[in-house]
Amino acid sequence: MAKTYAIAIDGPAGAGKSTIAKRLAKELGYYYVDTGAIYRTVAYFLDLLGVSPKDVDGVERYIDELTIEIEYDEEGKQHMIMNGMDVTGEIRTQDISQKASLVSAHAVVREMLLDMQRDVAKVHNVIMDGRDIGTVVLPKADVKIFLTASPEVRAKRRTDELLAKGQTAEYEVVLKEIQQRDYQDTHREIAPLKMAKDSIKLDTSELDIDGVIDAMKKIIGEKIPL
Ligand code: DC
Repeated sequence: MAKTYAIAIDGPAGAGKSTIAKRLAKELGYYYVDTGAIYRTVAYFLDLLGVSPKDVDGVERYIDELTIEIEYDEEGKQHMIMNGMDVTGEIRTQDISQKASLVSAHAVVREMLLDMQRDVAKVHNVIMDGRDIGTVVLPKADVKIFLTASPEVRAKRRTDELLAKGQTAEYEVVLKEIQQRDYQDTHREIAPLKMAKDSIKLDTSELDIDGVIDAMKKIIGEKIPL
């Protein structure tokens, strides 16, 4: 099998991972794998069944009834297919963000999703973003970048993004949710959000999108042929 390249991007909610990774993937001709969307799909499925994301027994009981597929349309956009249904749009709410964070702490959920994520990277060049890509999913990734920004900057960006989509969003509420998610994602026992030892940290607080893309290309270009 031909060598495939993997770029792992980890970082907290709202650091700009998906916006940046999407654009870079397009420029480099790589597959963009948004792993948060997979956890969101699990959260959405359990939510439809009325199972609390904190209910260990409930999660274990129903998880086997869920099949998830990742599909890409002709524009390279990732679609999440839950038991045959496209739920790409439905999983993008603040409520599902919180539930995905809680659901992602369960061992049974993380195990189920691990191979799915690794399989994509086996056959395609990927830019994969999440919380544990450089540490757990693709520990041998060619490039690892840890994207971060202050909670205030991330909350402002997320608020603007939600408003632009026509959803309601209040900065103070979004900030609290981001802080809560940071806490949950960094304090869970399995695969918590943390920087891999060989990861390069990029603080995007003071950078616009073009600035981040330039900085990332420089980092990536030193490790793999562009
Ligand atoms: O990136 P996101 O905001 O769509 O992710 C939603 C939640 O999913 C996040 O709060 C934690 C969880 N997640 C995870 O545990 N591991 C990943 N690789 C990606 C997301």
